Amino acid sequence: MTTLEENTAICVKDFALFGIKIEPIRQYYSPQAANYEFEIISLPSVAAFNRAVEAMKLMCDASCEMIGAGKFRLSAPCNRQYIGVGNCEPSLTKAVSADENGRQKGYICFGKGNFDYIVTSMEKAAHILVAGTTGSGKSCLLNSLIMELLCFSNAQLILIDPKQGVEFGIYEQDVHKRICSVAKNVSEAVEWLSVAVNEMERRYAHMKEKGLKEYDGVRLVVVIDELADLMMTSKKTVEQSIVRIAQMGRAAGVHLIVATQDPRASVVTGLIKYNLPTKVCLKTANAQHSMNVIDVGKGAELLGKGDAYLQLPTSPDLLRCQCPNISTDNILKIITKQGE
Ligand SMILES: Nc1ncnc2c1ncn2[C@@H]1O[C@H](COP(=O)(O)OP(=O)(O)OP(=O)(O)O)[C@@H](O)[C@H]1O
Ligand SMILES: [Mg+2]
Repeated sequence: MTTLEENTAICVKDFALFGIKIEPIRQYYSPQAANYEFEIISLPSVAAFNRAVEAMKLMCDASCEMIGAGKFRLSAPCNRQYIGVGNCEPSLTKAVSADENGRQKGYICFGKGNFDYIVTSMEKAAHILVAGTTGSGKSCLLNSLIMELLCFSNAQLILIDPKQGVEFGIYEQDVHKRICSVAKNVSEAVEWLSVAVNEMERRYAHMKEKGLKEYDGVRLVVVIDELADLMMTSKKTVEQSIVRIAQMGRAAGVHLIVATQDPRASVVTGLIKYNLPTKVCLKTANAQHSMNVIDVGKGAELLGKGDAYLQLPTSPDLLRCQCPNISTDNILKIITKQGE
């Protein structure tokens, strides 16, 4: 196998064949690809550049993205790097221990970006929308986030799985009493959403009484595995509760993580989209679904199995990342471990 440096030299030569002079900026492996960034020093025409890019596509399936004036990145698919929650642990431990109120903030890791693990907190992320076609890795990501919250924070969770608990049923074995409930059908889901809304209001009353701007207790995180199922049967009540929590929850320490396979406008309504500021777009079924989530169509070109674009409220750019996964065995080990 050729090295990144050797491939960089090959690119420089290949572009020279088209009369284009380029200079390497840097090269690196990301979880999905080998990446080569260049600056264009001189070129005869845009058409020549397009032909050179086309040649790279034919030779090594490389895609090209402009990354600034006169700069571009070629990305060639190579061995995928899969990430487990265990790989995220060092970054999470570091973030939590560097913060005086670390366990209170609800630190989470979305996996590995181009250069580093992407860590934020529920406090910053506020509410998260996860979208992707079947098999794209939504449940794997939700399970990973749940385990991160269980292991690295003191948050309480309400899990909603309208598909009879296929995905979250396992959490009923939690011995630490951190999971308040696993709702397994639409009517239980509606009930528990209103429990969360009531809790939020109770917290606001408490804050008012104490003159607090932010709730200083334990965070409550509501995780929904398939929003479409809920929106199909109880659109009005569900949307009302979700939007209410999304608009007011952050300051009261009540958060939403909502996943859907079906990000049509009737499911991810404008109100829901606007009020869930953190988005994870896994591979979508088509460009329109991707547009509905991250305002660009390229989610459809992702590779699946945890490959994602991440939109954080703290950053204007979309970040490519490989989301984590965790095995059922490991989930069971952690939630049934006595003596903590
Ligand atoms: N981050 C990941 N790393 C490695 N493999 C993954 C990852 N995410 C998903 N996979 C693989 O893809 C399979 C499907 O993932 P998952 O069940 O999370 O999809 P989903 O989006 O929830 O699909 P559905 O909409 O059908 O529920 C997993 O069983 C696993 O093999
Ligand atoms: Mg799933």
